[in-house]
Amino acid sequence: MSVGGVAVFGADTVYGLACDVHNPLAVARLYALKRRGPAKPSAVMFFDLSLAVEALPELGPRTLAALERLLPGAVTVLLPNPGLRYPLACGEGQLTLGLRVPVLAGLEGVKWPVLQSSANFAGGPEAVRLEDVPEAIRRRADMVIDGGELPGTASTVIDLRAYEADGDWRIARPGAVGEAEVRAALEWQFHFHPETYASTIREDLDYDRLQDELARASGTGARRVLELGTGTGETAERLLARHLEAELVGIDENAEMLSAARSRLPPERVSLRVARLQDPLPEGPFDLVASALCVHHLRGPEKRDLFGRVRELLAPGGRFALADVVIPADSADAVSPLTPGFDHPSPLGDQLAWLTEAGFQTRVAWAQADLTVVVADAR
Ligand SMILES: C[S@@+](CC[C@H](N)C(=O)[O-])C[C@H]1O[C@@H](n2cnc3c(N)ncnc32)[C@H](O)[C@@H]1O
Repeated sequence: MSVGGVAVFGADTVYGLACDVHNPLAVARLYALKRRGPAKPSAVMFFDLSLAVEALPELGPRTLAALERLLPGAVTVLLPNPGLRYPLACGEGQLTLGLRVPVLAGLEGVKWPVLQSSANFAGGPEAVRLEDVPEAIRRRADMVIDGGELPGTASTVIDLRAYEADGDWRIARPGAVGEAEVRAALEWQFHFHPETYASTIREDLDYDRLQDELARASGTGARRVLELGTGTGETAERLLARHLEAELVGIDENAEMLSAARSRLPPERVSLRVARLQDPLPEGPFDLVASALCVHHLRGPEKRDLFGRVRELLAPGGRFALADVVIPADSADAVSPLTPGFDHPSPLGDQLAWLTEAGFQTRVAWAQADLTVVVADAR
């Protein structure tokens, strides 16, 4: 590498080509070998995440936390590159850097990064075995390392360029690591641990008042209740105490939170399921759908879609009671601590309009700063 050589090597995915990331002649040779246009980017591969972090000092704390959760692994992350680092690997798009840290036992101690690209002709199939690497590439490379048969799926390319600012991410190329795994790493709900939830949320906001107001707004006499975002079961407990005949179905995407709920709620009245609000909801009809502090995790269009699906689940005369944090009309009322990219509150006016559009008659039952309880009755 240090004298401009190009190597064929087995990564944790498919066969790759590697060379010194700072040597223009080596990079030109690597590109020529695989017949790739020089304007196209490659990735910079480090063999140790801490070295990558040291080399990219512009990365912000959220992006670094995401890298810790994703790497090493079979992903290539696209990062903002305001420092214009590793220009030879970035092709035309110098403001974006592709980073790879593979799981390669034996190379973990390597202290310098390489520029790497897959060991095939541009647009050709990925090489799973050394024999799959085109013969012309193997012959002209300076070193060929036989890594045996490899898993065979290229890395998943994840665009994290907007992650620091607003938590947005996108899979730019599907690959070895599935979307659910990427999502779990990037939409990591560090807030929600069953042991600490009750105390931290009470420090953050007027939690018990909000819960009581939601229970009150939920009316009386419901027999079949759906709760969206049950968490540790605080809301469910109050709903069951108010609707004494009711059975409750609760959904939440966080299995650990739900198991805390399971241990406090009466099993004969409650059925809990791990599911996301964006996925198909449990089968109706329900007399009451209630939710506290969960819907603000959905973005605006997802909320609007959810409200339409909730309306379809409700029995005639049914009610949707929603307690949540909103974007207040007066920004001085924005007092609840929120995390960009994790919390996505919408203006109250937008939510009332989406509810009306879905076929609800709405009223605000309670409001305090940026916390609101909305009652939406099926029209
Ligand atoms: C702040 S807790 C509220 C729990 C309970 N309702 C309460 O008031 O204590 C939010 C819950 O919503 C869940 N959640 C967040 N986004 C979700 C989604 N998209 N689908 C399902 N559950 C979600 C979290 O796992 C968490 O348990």
